[in-house]
Amino acid sequence: MPPRLLLTHPLPANVEALVGDAAELVVLDVPKADRADAIRTAAPEADALITLLSDRVDRALLESCDHLRVVANYAVGFDNVDLVCAHERGVWVTTTPDVLTDATADLAFALLLGVARRMREGERLLHEGRFEGWAPAFLLGKELSGGVLGVVGFGRIGQAMARRARGFGMDVVYTSRSEVSGAHGAKRVELSELLERADVVSLHCPLTPQTHHLIGEDELSRMRPDAILINTARGPVVDEAALVRALERGQLWGAGLDVFEQEPRVHPGLIARDDVLLLPHLGSATETARRRMAEVAVHNALEALAGRRPPNALQTDLDGRPS
Ligand code: DGY
Repeated sequence: MPPRLLLTHPLPANVEALVGDAAELVVLDVPKADRADAIRTAAPEADALITLLSDRVDRALLESCDHLRVVANYAVGFDNVDLVCAHERGVWVTTTPDVLTDATADLAFALLLGVARRMREGERLLHEGRFEGWAPAFLLGKELSGGVLGVVGFGRIGQAMARRARGFGMDVVYTSRSEVSGAHGAKRVELSELLERADVVSLHCPLTPQTHHLIGEDELSRMRPDAILINTARGPVVDEAALVRALERGQLWGAGLDVFEQEPRVHPGLIARDDVLLLPHLGSATETARRRMAEVAVHNALEALAGRRPPNALQTDLDGRPS
């Protein structure tokens, strides 16, 4: 009998062709409200799971799967998976790095430009028929050239963001657990220094127990009063209520957010603001990136099923920290 590969949601790629006869493919195609139950029912029969970032692969689910060999997450993030439990049970956890780097950095930079140049305000005003013509001091924004971008988390996407910023004439500082060689002229600093120096703080770290609310009241108060915060990483890296308070106090120039603490719910204090540009988690949402993510996820799953180490396997220490 071929091993069973459970895909928790249809993907924008020809997954059947990618899997071929290497596994029996089962695709769940159920309404969102029924997804968690459907996964709980089907997963115990699976040898491999391909999951979305919105599927909770927790201890209870993992412990119900006796022959599971791999959780191939269709994302570069992995905060939806209990890494410690997977590690204890000898289950590989894989992600889809590289193929979404440019798409996500492009979107982060689009948010940055949009906030700096007050695009939300301008667009709204036009749609409401309130544009009265060009005027010298009308909707003045911020220039990026000569400013400092602070990148929190200098992995692939953080570095791609740095490359874009250099092209716009910005200096770049970054935080990272270790020095990155050939860092596109960027300088590694402590988070406190980054927050104090940066005109734009862009978040690119994974969500782990250590980065939950990494940007809270204290960190926001260290940022420059005219600074911009960009988050395309994960919502809970930012204390959203503290961000709303900081914006209300005029402590920041604005924020560009693609991810939210209680996704898909968005804090009502953010929705109403003109200095906040919001997108519905579109970081990797290009046709190319989403197709290639499927190819990578399937390849990871099939490699594990063939008894080989999948190329994008995560390692973890027992604190749930990726290594
Ligand atoms: C990821 O891959 O983690 C992204 O958030 C998906 O857009």
